[in-house]
Amino acid sequence: MTYEQIIKKYAPLLREVTHIPSKEVEILLLFLLEKNPIWLHLNYKNECSCEEALAKLVKKRATDFPIEYLTNRASFYGESFIVKENVLIPRPETEILVEKAESVLKEIENPKVLEIGVGSGIISVMLATLIPNIKIMAVDINDDALNLATLNAKKFGVEDKITFLKSDLFENIADEQFDMCISNPPYIKNDFKLPKNVTYEPKNALFGGVEGDELLKKIVDDTVERKIKYLYCEMGFDQKVRLERYIKEYKPKSCEFYKDYEKLDRGFCVEFNISKVE
Ligand SMILES: C[S@@+](CC[C@H](N)C(=O)[O-])C[C@H]1O[C@@H](n2cnc3c(N)ncnc32)[C@H](O)[C@@H]1O
Repeated sequence: MTYEQIIKKYAPLLREVTHIPSKEVEILLLFLLEKNPIWLHLNYKNECSCEEALAKLVKKRATDFPIEYLTNRASFYGESFIVKENVLIPRPETEILVEKAESVLKEIENPKVLEIGVGSGIISVMLATLIPNIKIMAVDINDDALNLATLNAKKFGVEDKITFLKSDLFENIADEQFDMCISNPPYIKNDFKLPKNVTYEPKNALFGGVEGDELLKKIVDDTVERKIKYLYCEMGFDQKVRLERYIKEYKPKSCEFYKDYEKLDRGFCVEFNISKVE
């Protein structure tokens, strides 16, 4: 069978799990063949050499298993990141958090940043790529995440700018100065029923507590206690009211909430008034 015929044969099996079944079969083929889309277009009429392997991948994808875990890659900020099972798959809305952080960090000379919950490393690696003299401490409780983030840092040549550390929130972080704490922590309510595809991702990257915002509040407290000036975080679309009230107790200099690409509340950028929160 030719590649064209193979794509037609397997696409219907993915109709229930994606709006772009043919495209996804192509992505899986390209992954197996280690080729690019142009190659495939030039070779549509040639014999397919990997039907058996493709059939296996399609079968797994048809269970709603994320395509990023099958191909071990995900795109973020226009770049291709390595992705592995047991570590959260990057989400496009996190690009907004990176953009917002970049705009303040580029104005600081030799900025020092702390990331809580580094996951695959997308935030720290992108900031390290975008900002020349930055130094980042990136922590996670998940060893697989720390290993993957280290791989991504090496892939982008920024491993010298990032220190990776296993830590439950701020627990193992020495008493050093940071200009910014940044985090996309788990923020989903513990009893929320996840869509099937998301159930394949690690629970400790998703669930933030009974209300969902418990870890976020702890990060707010710890950031203030450590006298870190800026706190930039992603949050759940329904958490603005409670978090705004919570943050304002600390009388910050400024506190801006932002929306994601779907126009849902998705995060906040706080500048603390360090001298007043002692
Ligand atoms: C929503 S994921 C975000 C990952 C990555 N920063 C991103 O934006 O894709 C949250 C991450 O926080 C980590 N995490 C969960 N609880 C933590 C804790 N108490 N201390 C440090 N990291 C934690 C998880 O292992 C996971 O990698």
